[in-house]
Amino acid sequence: MTESAGSRPPFTPFMASLPAEVPFVPMEAIQRARGGRPFRARIGANESRFPPSPKVVEALKSAAEEARLYGDPEFWDLRSALAARFGIQPRQVSVGEGIDGLLGHVLRLFVDHGDRVVLPQGSYPTMGYHIRGHGGEAVHVPYRQDRVDPEAMVAAARKTGAKILYVANPDNPMGGWITGAEIQAMTEALPPNCVLVLDEAYAEFAPPEALPPLDVSRTNLLRLRTFSKAYGLAGARVGYALAHEAVCAGFDRIRNHFGVNRLGQIAALAALEDEAHLQATIAASVAAREELTRIARAHGLTPLPSATNFVTMDCGRDGAFAKRVLEELAARDLFIRKPGAPGLDRCIRVSAGRPDEMALFAETLPEALKAAARG
Ligand SMILES: Cc1ncc(COP(=O)(O)O)c(C=O)c1O
Repeated sequence: MTESAGSRPPFTPFMASLPAEVPFVPMEAIQRARGGRPFRARIGANESRFPPSPKVVEALKSAAEEARLYGDPEFWDLRSALAARFGIQPRQVSVGEGIDGLLGHVLRLFVDHGDRVVLPQGSYPTMGYHIRGHGGEAVHVPYRQDRVDPEAMVAAARKTGAKILYVANPDNPMGGWITGAEIQAMTEALPPNCVLVLDEAYAEFAPPEALPPLDVSRTNLLRLRTFSKAYGLAGARVGYALAHEAVCAGFDRIRNHFGVNRLGQIAALAALEDEAHLQATIAASVAAREELTRIARAHGLTPLPSATNFVTMDCGRDGAFAKRVLEELAARDLFIRKPGAPGLDRCIRVSAGRPDEMALFAETLPEALKAAARG
């Protein structure tokens, strides 16, 4: 412990009760723990392994000196461009520092200490982090056959009087999806005073049937999207919400005005303008997804259907075995991740990567499986 001088107030009792944590172990921390040895393939974080549009790179280069200026705290150009893209009004679009940032705001808007939030057991850990950080109480609903269970989730929301029902669709960590029709049925069946927070981080990779029609007249449905995945801008931290204008106005009460920085806004705008590049990235990611499916099958694993930029693979044994597979891949310098919740933990999760990364995975997986089987 470093010696300390001066006197500060204690953290509030609630803050003092929180763990200081990052909700997952970052790849950089894993690398530091390995004495800095780099990974040969970074296929664990579901980032895009394909670069952003050359137009984005050009826009960022020519705006580099603008980093001295604040960005537009109303994100007007970006909100207008998004509104035009979706055929809605700028007041029905909110922009934030990634979906992660927006999720924190959503909790702050709707959840008081002790309020319930329903979410699938083992789903996106950052949501759990924000629930804890805002004093909410998570109500976990198990997946059914590796898929979000819409009826059970609505039933849990009814039973517990939850303020929020959170679903990532397509889903992380399992990669599957429920249909737009199921989402619509959920919003119609929600109890009063409950909002469906639909995290669509992977929407661009999904079949059309997974996405309900956009309806910003509903006040109990909030859709969150991001430039982190298909647009290849995870490091720029830009996400957005499409919602009823009253909900968007809620964000204006609490958001971090310069949270999406000037260069992030410039990058996102340029990315939106290059539809051909977006389509090429989606095609490359889908091809890599198919390759992962093939590799998994070739080595006796069961790939789960995926509408994302990753494939979750059932290793066919228990969580301890899947963990060994992950460790043996890491020992061979491949970074992947795995679901942690009991029942899902029999799987590993591999991001769609560049062809060289897919080839490396294909070459390394059989050795890792053999070593994992030895125990
Ligand atoms: C379901 C889900 N939501 C949100 C995110 C993060 O999105 P962002 O980078 O926009 O914060 C991820 C990233 O892995 C994710 O899987």
